[in-house]
Amino acid sequence: MIDRETIDNVQAVCREIGNGAGKTILDIGCGTGALCRALAGIGASVTGIDPSQNAINQANELGGGATYQIATLDELEASPNSFDVVIFCTSLHHIPNMAEALHGALKRIKPDGKIIVLEPQTDDPLYPVYRWLDDEKEVQIRAQACVDTFIADGPMERSKTLYFNKKYRYASLDHLIDDMMEVDDSRSLSNEARGKMAAAYKAAVQTDADGNYIDHWYRLDVLETTKG
Ligand SMILES: C[S@@+](CC[C@H](N)C(=O)[O-])C[C@H]1O[C@@H](n2cnc3c(N)ncnc32)[C@H](O)[C@@H]1O
Repeated sequence: MIDRETIDNVQAVCREIGNGAGKTILDIGCGTGALCRALAGIGASVTGIDPSQNAINQANELGGGATYQIATLDELEASPNSFDVVIFCTSLHHIPNMAEALHGALKRIKPDGKIIVLEPQTDDPLYPVYRWLDDEKEVQIRAQACVDTFIADGPMERSKTLYFNKKYRYASLDHLIDDMMEVDDSRSLSNEARGKMAAAYKAAVQTDADGNYIDHWYRLDVLETTKG
């Protein structure tokens, strides 16, 4: 049985980065930039990229000291070997060619740089709920396998793995659905699937002093180069 610390994914990454001052960080698939803003807040120089114009517009509106580009990794305007850390925060499984993305990230880091990969774990209490909206089990398992293959092939090694639990806080099922729809506007929900999702939500939801939540498990891998 894995012992999971309860922590937010943004906090988990910031803790891993430590003192951000002087560090250059690339957040691939940054969405609306929550992690970028937090990393800029600890002093890092942060670039967030995402192919979603809507997400980058929102990130720019929210500001917070990071710079953003509407881009995939291939399209990124930046020199090779220019980042101390490249991060995939629940984005790797969204990228069509995950192996190519990991190798692309390797080209972007400095010789002593790191890649941090956060991926959701599909055996968690949230999966039986959100699968009715978007069943990502297969692609998330493939993302994990892709990281394993990347490491087995070298030239990076896994220096740390952290399993953690984030309490996903939704006041109600409707809030959960709205939140998940906003991340990906191609998602849709039939009435039948909504009924099944409601039953799964009822079984998974818990309550603490701050309100309703469902446990969502993550795995964070830190990859370090073995080039030198
Ligand atoms: C689950 S969201 C994660 C957003 C953010 N990193 C977070 O943790 O809140 C996945 C993100 O990956 C982005 N994405 C999709 N395809 C991508 C690609 N080819 N390259 C980079 N990001 C991509 C999506 O637009 C979306 O913002």
